[in-house]
Amino acid sequence: MSTVGTHASAPARPGQGVTAEAARRRTFAVISHPDAGKSTLTEALVLHARVIAEAGAIHGKAGRRSTVSDWMEMEKARGISITSTALQFPYTAEDGTDCVINLLDTPGHADFSEDTYRVLTAVDAAVMLIDAAKGLEPQTLKLFQVCRHRRIPIITVINKWDRPGREPLELLDEIESRIGLRPTPLTWPVGIAGDFKGVLDRRTGAFVRFTRTAGGATIAPEEHLPPAAAERSEPAYWSAAVEESELLSADGADHDQDAFLDGRTTPVLFAAAVLNFGVNQLLDVLVHLAPSPGARPDIDGRPRPVDAPFSAFVFKVQAGMDAAHRDRLAYARVCSGSFRRGDILTHAATGKPFTTKYAQSVFGQQRTTLDIAWPGDVIGLVNATALRVGDSLYRDAAVIYPPIPHFAPEHFAVARAVDAGKHKQFRRGITQLEQEGVIQVLRSDKRGDQAPVLAAVGPMQFEVAAHRMAAEFSSPLQLEHLNYTLVRRTHPTDVAFLDQQRSVEVLTRTDGTLLALFSDQWRLAAIEREHPHLHLDELVAAAN
Ligand code: G4P
Repeated sequence: MSTVGTHASAPARPGQGVTAEAARRRTFAVISHPDAGKSTLTEALVLHARVIAEAGAIHGKAGRRSTVSDWMEMEKARGISITSTALQFPYTAEDGTDCVINLLDTPGHADFSEDTYRVLTAVDAAVMLIDAAKGLEPQTLKLFQVCRHRRIPIITVINKWDRPGREPLELLDEIESRIGLRPTPLTWPVGIAGDFKGVLDRRTGAFVRFTRTAGGATIAPEEHLPPAAAERSEPAYWSAAVEESELLSADGADHDQDAFLDGRTTPVLFAAAVLNFGVNQLLDVLVHLAPSPGARPDIDGRPRPVDAPFSAFVFKVQAGMDAAHRDRLAYARVCSGSFRRGDILTHAATGKPFTTKYAQSVFGQQRTTLDIAWPGDVIGLVNATALRVGDSLYRDAAVIYPPIPHFAPEHFAVARAVDAGKHKQFRRGITQLEQEGVIQVLRSDKRGDQAPVLAAVGPMQFEVAAHRMAAEFSSPLQLEHLNYTLVRRTHPTDVAFLDQQRSVEVLTRTDGTLLALFSDQWRLAAIEREHPHLHLDELVAAAN
């Protein structure tokens, strides 16, 4: 058992302890486009939770003192644990509310892959982080679609307000018109983008004045001023902020908890993560408005309460890239009950026991060991060769959670065995990688079984597949990248017609879904326009 340590105290009584521990948990992810400030915000959150004394510890940002090794030391000393998948820290709000925050990572940049989407099946809320100068960007939109599909409540943070950016009302309009989520700002900026003085707290009417600290390395002091004092402090900006806030109220853009939890509205905060401005407000929203883990529906739609016996589902499987160590780490989100290291669980897919007691030694020196976990927590299971993405684990009362859906691929490549004589190994490897969720596999009669099309959300999935085919299955791959970027689910009646179109190809995924691949959105739009009767369904996260 590895990683993602928790620091919860032992429960008073089993049932009561689980309910209370679940109620303390806030499990969320940040969805953003690369460079919007996710790492900076993560660091600022941890700084505010007073787990670290100075920002810069996680990423060793230029000009800041701490280093990554300091971070590892602090990790041990302060009871905080970080992995590439989940960061957990305790946080006590000003009113004394005591929480455990689980921040799950959604890798961006080059390592963006289907795993990034799968992480969103394991969270209870998401923070949509937007760069004030750029607005909604492509990766944010893709991740948002997955959140919408799951109806995850979304908190919006408009970041980099210390720099010149777009008008706040324009940004809100963009959110509402492009993604149909109604923004309900909780704070409103005082000062224009580039001259950020603080925020108007729209619920109390107070001015929260921020003060810069050197390099943004420490928590920015905050003062709460009543309106009259705010007017004296910021004569140029205060009345404009109040006026705009009143306009928002007149337009009905005030926070509504039910609409937020239902995924219809999004509370909005303005921030400058690099200066630690607005970070307290985000923690406050996480503690007081974001949902704690609740009953999760099983495959038949029956909710399993958090105080039921232990259950979890695997949302990510990471196979060692090192051929010498065929370790496999499965990350599971706890849905109900408590988990103790050494517990023997049942693997729902096979009905076989799954032991967790040897796991510690493998990752022991690298990570704090997990002793106990509660609903909302992530557990890393080592040597999990039998576990696949979407698998359920339980103790005592059996449960199967719904499978994690396939996500819409955007990269496609024909795979062939370099050594044609190794077709058996090739088939076995491709099937295995597909079952593990490393890659999707599409086929057609035209292309034949020796040349399936691998489909991925991010190109790194091809690298992983190629590496593992060579290292584990002794069947190096030859990949021929195809010129398609878009996919739609289609119908058997449309296959013949679509296959005749230029820059279109229909393939069948192993689960039987018919997928039409298109070179680009213009080609797709033209075909949809000219042939509106065709079945071309978007499959964000829907396919299974
Ligand atoms: P990411 O994880 O989302 O990719 O973004 P990251 O936090 O690495 O931030 C990307 C860049 O944006 C960094 O600058 C970071 O300092 C800057 N940034 C983040 N938040 C803010 C903010 O609130 N205001 C301003 N002005 N900048 C912000 P960089 O030049 O790439 O790196 P660095 O030299 O600052 O470390």
